[in-house]
Amino acid sequence: MKIIIADDYQELSRRASDLLLEVVKRDPYAVLGLATGTTPLGAYEHMIENHKKNGTSYLHVRTVNLDEYKGLPASHPQSYACFMRHNLFDGLDIDLENTYIENGMAAEEEEECARYDKLLRSLPRDVQLLGLGSNGHIAFNEPGTPFDSGTHVVTLAESTVRDNARLFAGIDEVPRKAFTMGIRQIMQARRVLILASGANKADAVFCMAKGPVTEDVPASVLRLHPDCTLIVDRAAAAKL
Ligand code: F6R
Repeated sequence: MKIIIADDYQELSRRASDLLLEVVKRDPYAVLGLATGTTPLGAYEHMIENHKKNGTSYLHVRTVNLDEYKGLPASHPQSYACFMRHNLFDGLDIDLENTYIENGMAAEEEEECARYDKLLRSLPRDVQLLGLGSNGHIAFNEPGTPFDSGTHVVTLAESTVRDNARLFAGIDEVPRKAFTMGIRQIMQARRVLILASGANKADAVFCMAKGPVTEDVPASVLRLHPDCTLIVDRAAAAKL
């Protein structure tokens, strides 16, 4: 795992977007694995700014997202589908038909997971962007998830529900279940870029980068990936 320590969130975001832009510039047909959450927001802003200033085109780019809350339609303001449109896609020239995410409203869980697994097989990702949960999760693969898991439905850990409550009207509004890409599929991306910012991620960053590789810390699996870059700011790197 290559570790880059940025001075602050601004530098982290710039470096992350530089890396993603490099992929898109090299291959206009690139497949990007994307994440929601607070951490990638700065990088997404840079990508939009770059598109407007320099005209980097996403017309042929395809994207696949990590996860989606179960029970929220794509039109719901707190759905991850809506998050992606609002924070990235609407600012680019990407064709929304080329952007993929699990269907949170799918009635048949197993069918939806099988559909997404098949989709992921047909769209090998050039890069997978990840945020890091304060409990070491990646996507919604909570501690204890087998490293060979495919797309599945998870019951979110209490700490994840608490962490995500800030984006909802109250903790009771946070869905307790979600569809998530599995760890096996994260590891199949050609390149992985994981970002962590802020003091509340310092323990998880330490366990991921320096502790044992264990299913108790899902992100630790990334140390086995041949091309994984971690970008952290100073606060998140405090315990390294
Ligand atoms: C988001 C995702 C999550 C977040 C993680 C960190 O699609 O899968 O794993 O990346 O919970 O969230 P933030 O960035 O909000 O701290």
